[in-house]
Amino acid sequence: MTSFVLPAERPTARLTAEVQTAEQARLDAVAARKQGQDTLSVIPPGEYVCLRVLYDDQWWPVMMDTPAEYADHADLFEHARGRVLLHGLGLGCAVSALLADPAVEHIDVVEASADVIALIGPYFRDYPVTIHHASCVDKTWPDDARWSYVWHDIWTEVSVDNLDDETAEHGISYGRLAQLFAGRADRQGAWAFDLVVDYLDGPPLSAAG
Ligand SMILES: C[S@@+](CC[C@H](N)C(=O)[O-])C[C@H]1O[C@@H](n2cnc3c(N)ncnc32)[C@H](O)[C@@H]1O
Repeated sequence: MTSFVLPAERPTARLTAEVQTAEQARLDAVAARKQGQDTLSVIPPGEYVCLRVLYDDQWWPVMMDTPAEYADHADLFEHARGRVLLHGLGLGCAVSALLADPAVEHIDVVEASADVIALIGPYFRDYPVTIHHASCVDKTWPDDARWSYVWHDIWTEVSVDNLDDETAEHGISYGRLAQLFAGRADRQGAWAFDLVVDYLDGPPLSAAG
């Protein structure tokens, strides 16, 4: 967990402390079962940090350091080694976890929000992490730039809309990023892509992350 991240605020991004009580966790589990959902994404009792961004005059939760969010990064944590590129800094959960892995040598992170970088970037100042302020589709790289793993996590909703540039959040689809980095990565992965693909054959999703 990113328990070292403290509440703080910038004009368009804020970090808030959140508490999940045992009673609320029990109620959430009951509600999940009633709706036929699994209880793996129910937040266990504990203290968490939430990153919210201001969009359309509303503070939207973008990332929280819950076990389910870490689990969503499983492919990245299993396969990352050497030089890694992350699209979306968020709360820095993925960065923290990768820094604990001796197989990972350096992490590039591309983050579009200056306020998110201002809140989270300083925690990684003394580590082999380079944070680039840009949109992941606009950032230019040297011709020979390569990574062992490129991870895309710029979305907040688990949605089939993110399969198409016309409807995707930020106008950036999974496929567009996969294509852009096809020659530059030994392996690529993206947050919730497996869930979206499952949805095409299964019941509607209600998860957001
Ligand atoms: C869900 S969070 C990422 C969570 C992150 N994996 C973590 O471990 O905390 C998504 C992040 O992507 C950023 N973002 C959104 N659009 C982007 C873009 N076009 N390029 C780069 N970053 C972007 C958001 O500002 C936000 O910080």
